[in-house]
Amino acid sequence: MIQPPSREERNPIARVVKLEKAFGENRVLTGVDVSFCEGCCTFVAGPSGTGKSVLVRHLVGLIKPDVGEVYYRDKRVDTLNEAALLKLRKRCTYVFQHPTLFDSMTVKENVSVVLRHHYHLSKDQADARALEQLEKMGLGDFGPQSPNQLSTGQQKMVSIARALALEPETLILDEPTTGLDPYAARQLDELVGKLNQGGMTMLVISHDLRSIRRLADEVVFLLQGKVRYSGPTPGFFGSTDPAVRQFVRGEVDKKV
Ligand SMILES: Nc1ncnc2c1ncn2[C@@H]1O[C@H](COP(=O)(O)OP(=O)(O)OP(=O)(O)O)[C@@H](O)[C@H]1O
Ligand SMILES: [Mg+2]
Repeated sequence: MIQPPSREERNPIARVVKLEKAFGENRVLTGVDVSFCEGCCTFVAGPSGTGKSVLVRHLVGLIKPDVGEVYYRDKRVDTLNEAALLKLRKRCTYVFQHPTLFDSMTVKENVSVVLRHHYHLSKDQADARALEQLEKMGLGDFGPQSPNQLSTGQQKMVSIARALALEPETLILDEPTTGLDPYAARQLDELVGKLNQGGMTMLVISHDLRSIRRLADEVVFLLQGKVRYSGPTPGFFGSTDPAVRQFVRGEVDKKV
């Protein structure tokens, strides 16, 4: 039997080099070098406001760096035009931290409009695929409803269904379990694990240590604009770095 490649042998699928980003006086990323391996489930963790969302948004060209380079499969992302970025976001799909559904459309239409946009399907074909994706995730009953009739957690699940309908090779989930009840959070973890086992590269931003332990192959820990840890999960939990240890113990707010 052919063994799957070990983590060390897997290729980087996305990486940033010497990345710097400021918003006015606020220097958010101050020289970040990190790569995310193909087929891995990587968790990006760190205190609130430390630049986790800003970092991953660079990967899909939603934010341009002030300094540095962004690559997806060895292609520069930060210099792509809008048409090329649209193609990239079909392969590498980002699900926002806060649900971004249109209340003027039904849940089904929210999924189907994205399919029509990316795959040029007819309305009927896109609607059928949208409903199929919603049903696969147990969200079929929400199809005819407006997103504003759904809880935040349910809206998050619909946002993920919409991303998965595109059949991406990489899925970036920005704090997917925040705002979910423990049962829904557990279900979401199971989904992340299943997608990763099916070969999808997963990048998950999360503070949830239990999810990190359960699911992550690798952890990227951001602190004060820099990568403080990047590597396999056991090394993260066993780190002797006081900043990592504080985070692992749930003491994120103390200064190190
Ligand atoms: N578009 C923007 N314009 C101005 N400032 C921004 C913008 N996006 C992010 N920031 C600032 O960048 C910093 C990092 O924000 P970011 O959203 O990446 O944090 P985070 O680590 O994802 O935090 P959280 O865990 O709360 O989601 C914050 O100070 C935020 O106010
Ligand atoms: Mg964030």
